[in-house]
Amino acid sequence: MPLSSTPPSVPAELSQNARTVLEKRYLVKDRSGKPTERPEDMFWRVATVVAEADRRYGASDAQTQALAEEFYALMTQRRFEPNSPTLMNAGRPLGQLSACFVLPVEDALSNGQNGIYDTLRSMALIHQSGGGTGFSFSRLRGKGAMVRSTTGVASGPVSFMQLYDSSTDAVKQGGTRRGANMGILRVDHPDVLDFIACKEDLTKVTNFNISVGITEKFMQALKAGGSYDLIEPSTGAVAGQLDAKLVWDKMVLGAWRTGEPGVFFIDEANRYNPVPHLGAYEATNPCGEQPLLPYDVCNLGSVNVGYYVRDGQLDWEAFGRDIRTSTHFLDNIIDVNKYPLPEIDALSKRIRRIGLGVMGFADALIKLGIPYDTPEGVEMGRRVMEFLDVEGKKESERLAKERGPFPEWARSIWGPDETCARDADGKRIRPMQMLRNCNVTTVAPTGTISIIAGCSSGLEPLFAVAFMRNQAGVMMPDVNEDFVAIAKREGWYSDELMERIAKTGTVQHPEVPERWQKVFVTANLIAPEWHVRMQAAFQQHCDSAISKTTNFAHTATVDDVRAIYELAYQLNCKGVTVYRDGSRDGQVLSTGATE
Ligand code: CDP
Repeated sequence: MPLSSTPPSVPAELSQNARTVLEKRYLVKDRSGKPTERPEDMFWRVATVVAEADRRYGASDAQTQALAEEFYALMTQRRFEPNSPTLMNAGRPLGQLSACFVLPVEDALSNGQNGIYDTLRSMALIHQSGGGTGFSFSRLRGKGAMVRSTTGVASGPVSFMQLYDSSTDAVKQGGTRRGANMGILRVDHPDVLDFIACKEDLTKVTNFNISVGITEKFMQALKAGGSYDLIEPSTGAVAGQLDAKLVWDKMVLGAWRTGEPGVFFIDEANRYNPVPHLGAYEATNPCGEQPLLPYDVCNLGSVNVGYYVRDGQLDWEAFGRDIRTSTHFLDNIIDVNKYPLPEIDALSKRIRRIGLGVMGFADALIKLGIPYDTPEGVEMGRRVMEFLDVEGKKESERLAKERGPFPEWARSIWGPDETCARDADGKRIRPMQMLRNCNVTTVAPTGTISIIAGCSSGLEPLFAVAFMRNQAGVMMPDVNEDFVAIAKREGWYSDELMERIAKTGTVQHPEVPERWQKVFVTANLIAPEWHVRMQAAFQQHCDSAISKTTNFAHTATVDDVRAIYELAYQLNCKGVTVYRDGSRDGQVLSTGATE
């Protein structure tokens, strides 16, 4: 018997900001644009669709109902939220529930499957369903290379990326969100310098984030102060050499100017590819937290870790319980998802990749009284991620015993196979473990779902204690509730102080006790090195990658950015993204200080 469409009578605990976002973009609407469901109906719609998957594995009506109620409680109490497409599309005609995709782009205009224009079509379908797409353009022949059929010359990867960009503009994602893309080019591609420069003009390629795929060979050449080979992908021939430092300097300068290009340490990411027998990582999703194979997909979800801190203590038991339920939730999504392409559907069922992460990490630190930019803060980050990873895998193992491991398990890095599970030096990369999912953990930006949950985003520090947020064109005030509560409790609260904080973008004012100035430290006041140290601490225990922006003050120098790019490499990060305050217009978040 299908589950009742009436949600439990317990209302969702949502802030006004959360309700505004849901009404604007998530709730089902009638033709006049008026919502025909309440947030509670939305959460129940999601909970029932996802719980229904358990029936395939023998769950009774009563068990499915109980599970749906558990999922409903998780989401409405803001302990966990799945990525936006799940909230928007579950139980609706599109039924596409994932945020992240990577598509291959082969060096042909069209080959009926994955040539440039074939993939362009696939991209449009994914955007329409609310997903974001990543591409490696590294297989496309360099600009000026010969095109045999016409004896003309190729226009190169950058021009095709511009084509994808324009098409993204034309397809608004199902009317809900604008398409987001990641474009990657390997550092040994002949067009790499054009690629690095292609976003110098901030009005160009606006629907893409771009990152250079940095190889180990390149980093060795950089260390040695030498040059490295460029390889023409269509022939495999050496097409020239470039000085590694020259290329690195251009990337760093670009990042200093505009935040782009970012870096994707492609060999480091591939070391941890769980299914190397199926292919290599060439690209990531738009925000970088998911290196994915061609036609790979990931559905994300995030546990709000701040929720579990009560009276200065993190309730690890409750946190662990919810991590396990959330893992179950994400695994179920794979069975009920309606994928936009048959290739994606097939791969997702063979490897069952999921991405469980955290949000509200800065809130948790604040509630624990630990400043973000300290060894204690970083150690807490490592512990939280280790715990998430261990508990998530426990559940994935339990599901594997009950439902079977993911079909490619035996040859994956988790399985008994002697070749795939080994590093170049013959050591196992991961301990053998029977798992339902080839990857379990990640850390997403949680840009919108953190607003729905009313918490700080991902693993990021607070952006500001009081600020105005531009959400889907609406400027919304955001004031940190923990800060207000402490100020009132300790007797130094005033409206005038809050206004001053919003205007100046800092809590460094004489009436704020020094201890709280440290605990409520905001992104721009944190030395960039601590951002990267935190990212690296999370990365230690994360299957996939981490979405993290290292913030710089407007006055930071090019050398400051270079040092951070190099530190990220030394600390085994899979990528790095920086942002210098005020270097781009139209920031999503803004404090008075940057206006
Ligand atoms: O909070 P929400 O679930 O909406 O998304 P997020 O955690 O900020 O972003 C997760 C992923 O969703 C990104 O890495 C992209 O792959 C995708 N995304 C997208 O396609 N379009 C957007 N406008 C935002 C995110």
